[in-house]
Amino acid sequence: MKLKFLPTTIFRETPKVIFFDAGLEASNGCDIVIHSEEAISPPDDFNDEQYYVHYHQIDHNLVITGERTFVLINPSWDETHHVIYLNRSMGALEIPIETYHRSISGKEGSIVLNQSKRDQFFDASKEFIPHKLDKLSLIKARKSPPVYWIWENDQIKRFRCNPLERKVKTLT
Ligand SMILES: [Fe+2]
Repeated sequence: MKLKFLPTTIFRETPKVIFFDAGLEASNGCDIVIHSEEAISPPDDFNDEQYYVHYHQIDHNLVITGERTFVLINPSWDETHHVIYLNRSMGALEIPIETYHRSISGKEGSIVLNQSKRDQFFDASKEFIPHKLDKLSLIKARKSPPVYWIWENDQIKRFRCNPLERKVKTLT
């Protein structure tokens, strides 16, 4: 499964200033999701993880500040489980319809711009309801070993083992 990351166009970057075009032609929604500290969208319901899933909206999530870890689950894909350590350099992560997804920030929090594409049947009262993984296919997908996506050496790389754990191991 090849995930799509839509690049931004950087106009100017100095050590303290970055100025870039984040516009996406295809989008007709412009949502900001701010995690002011450690947070999960949507939050756990007691011990159960919860996810968003859209039927009339494609997400394009671009990190503006900080880092955000996205988890994507889609039983119809050949690789059903993905963990993406998203930062601004990676561009806007596309989340196709019917993909269960949640995002997690570390202690510093993060700000994400979601330039979504909504169709004519979009209804905000239905699209943003947290769901549990309540089907066998979803539980199976969640338990399958994820594909990890990270930004390394100025490019997006995918791994079968968690590269961050590998780094920790290397360091100790
Ligand atoms: Fe979403």
